[in-house]
Amino acid sequence: MRLDKYLARIGYGSKEIVKEFIKNSMVSVNSKLITDPSFQIGEFDNVLVDNKVKPYKKLVYIMMNKPNGVLSVTKDDTNNVVINYLSEEYRLMNLSPIGRLDIDTTGLLILTNDTKVLRRIASPNYHISKTYLVTFIGNIEYVDISLFNQGITLSNGYITKPSKIEFINKEQALITIYEGKYHQIKRMFQSVNLKLIKLHRISIDKIYIDPSLKEGEYRLLNEEEINILKSH
Ligand code: URA
Repeated sequence: MRLDKYLARIGYGSKEIVKEFIKNSMVSVNSKLITDPSFQIGEFDNVLVDNKVKPYKKLVYIMMNKPNGVLSVTKDDTNNVVINYLSEEYRLMNLSPIGRLDIDTTGLLILTNDTKVLRRIASPNYHISKTYLVTFIGNIEYVDISLFNQGITLSNGYITKPSKIEFINKEQALITIYEGKYHQIKRMFQSVNLKLIKLHRISIDKIYIDPSLKEGEYRLLNEEEINILKSH
C-alpha cells in the first residue's frame, strides 16, 4: 500500500495532510526518512510519524441480523445490546451501528468503527435508502397508497419525505424510506390506519441482509458491500 494512503487510513488525516507530513520529512519507514508519498510499504514495515508509533486501527464492517428484543446500541447497563452478540475480538473494536433499529425490529444492522462512514451515513438527515419488510393488520383497500409517495403526515405534524411501497399481499409490504425519523415506519403505518406488527430491515442501499444469517448471527461485509458504503 502507498505510504500516504496507509497514514490516511490509520487516522492521521486526509491524503493531502499526510502528504505534507511525508514531504516535510516527518515520516520514517524502518528508521529511514521517506519523503515520497507514493512509497510502497508492506505489512511488517515499521512506520513512525514524528518518531512516534500510532497503533494501526483496523477498520471493520459487520452485517448482523438483529434479533428481536435487543437494543441496537453498543453500551448499556443491560446485556440486551447487539454488541454482546459479537465475539470478543469485535467487542473490543469500538464498533457502532450505522443508524438504529427499534428494539422489536429485526434484520440488517451494519456495525463499523469507520468514523468517516459513521459520521456521514448514520446522520438522521442522510438520505440513503433503507428497505423494510412490514407485516401489518388492517384493510389496504381503505388506504390511499399514493400518500406514501407524496409524504405522510405523522402525529406531530411532520410530513415524511416520499417513500416507495409495494404490497406483497394483504398483510405484507416492502417499504423504502430515505430518512430515519424516530419510529418512522411505525408512525407512517399508524397514520394510514394500518397496525404494524413486524418490521424487518432487508437492505441499506444495495447491501442486502444475507439470508443465511439467523437472528443474532453476523458476518463481515465483503469488498463490494464495503465499497457501496464508502461510495456515500
Ligand atoms: N422505522 C421504525 O418504526 N422502526 C425501525 O426500527 C426502523 C424504521
